[in-house]
Amino acid sequence: MTDPTDAVRDRALSLPSAELPAYIYDVAALRAHAAAVRACLPERVELYYAAKANPEPEILAALSPYVDGYEVASGGELAHVAKAVPGRPLAFGGPGKTPDEIVAALELGVERFHVESEYELHMLAELARQVRPDDRVGVLPRLNLPVAADSLAASSLAMGGRPSPFGLDPAQADTVMGLLTDGTYPQLELKGVHAHLASGLGAREQVAVAGSVVDRSVRLAERHGVRPAEVNVGGGMTVDYAAPDERFDWAAYGTGLARLLARHPGLTLRVEPGRALTAYCGWYVTEVLDVKPSHDEEFAVVRGGTHHLRTPATKGHDQPCTLLGVEDWPHPWARPVSRGELVTLVGQLCTPKDVLARHVPVSALRAGDRVAFGLAGAYAWNISHHDFLMHPHPGFHFIDAPDFADTP
Ligand SMILES: Cc1ncc(COP(=O)(O)O)c(C=O)c1O
Repeated sequence: MTDPTDAVRDRALSLPSAELPAYIYDVAALRAHAAAVRACLPERVELYYAAKANPEPEILAALSPYVDGYEVASGGELAHVAKAVPGRPLAFGGPGKTPDEIVAALELGVERFHVESEYELHMLAELARQVRPDDRVGVLPRLNLPVAADSLAASSLAMGGRPSPFGLDPAQADTVMGLLTDGTYPQLELKGVHAHLASGLGAREQVAVAGSVVDRSVRLAERHGVRPAEVNVGGGMTVDYAAPDERFDWAAYGTGLARLLARHPGLTLRVEPGRALTAYCGWYVTEVLDVKPSHDEEFAVVRGGTHHLRTPATKGHDQPCTLLGVEDWPHPWARPVSRGELVTLVGQLCTPKDVLARHVPVSALRAGDRVAFGLAGAYAWNISHHDFLMHPHPGFHFIDAPDFADTP
């Protein structure tokens, strides 16, 4: 799905130049993908969407029928998601939660708190006592568990299994489990354990990590005389920007989780992917403004750049793209055109880091042609430095099936 779908291609070619760049989402394709993911997950696996990947309200709403809830990681996300998909279960994670954020989450009735430190546990307990005195608030300590030395080796972003600011150090895990099981905090209910250790793992590695997380969580809980009802094994299912047609093997993952669950009757697993759910449904579409040689290379400058689509700059990859030829050339002067076979696509920013894709093979790229950058549905616009150089923001288009509204 790197090439734009027909609906996206039509929209990309019909927009006037002045309305580019634009993010164009195929919401119908997102629904189909989410339904397929859901169908691969066995019973007793809950699917939460990590809203940080793409919190556009249309995306959150489209996912709603296929997910069991949403993972939010800040007070801002909390308020935003609660408004976009009212009444859906929320899990509140992330390091450095402030008292105000915790109070807001308690007032909103958040179902699960992923507690990142002993300090946070004490603060949550006190605020829960004040804000929800008649309630028991669901807690999953987030653990930074040791894992086999090479099990996160393939990951693009490891957040655990090594020194990191995320979750509880194994040495502190017992203290926190003790506080949650010895009656110190009756207003908190230990639901289980959370561990998001890495992003960018394939299905086999994900199943192995999940198995290790579950085994260790069960052993930890048993030391405190309880069994975890739930283990959240996080997100991080890989999206390969270098091989965009290869997909995370959800079927193999589901089969592996089913095997794991068979060893743990009564346990519910929760997964909270972000990138692998939404990356494929979004395209950043723009227009080539200029094409020029520089020393032995050729560059095409497009409207927009990494201030709109920061993903290739942060991850250091070339964003997969499709060229959409435009025959019309309305000017009396010669149309700039590439002469070589490889063109580097850059944005309008005054920095050599504003590179969207290097050495793209093209037969002839012309000013006025359009380019659709794929895999732009996750960690794209929302992680970008929008106002650097004060270029206009892109447009947003959410194309849905006829039964659903199409918002330009
Ligand atoms: C706690 C937690 N859960 C889930 C995710 C989602 O990860 P991904 O988008 O790689 O699936 C992240 C990403 O950073 C995270 O920190």
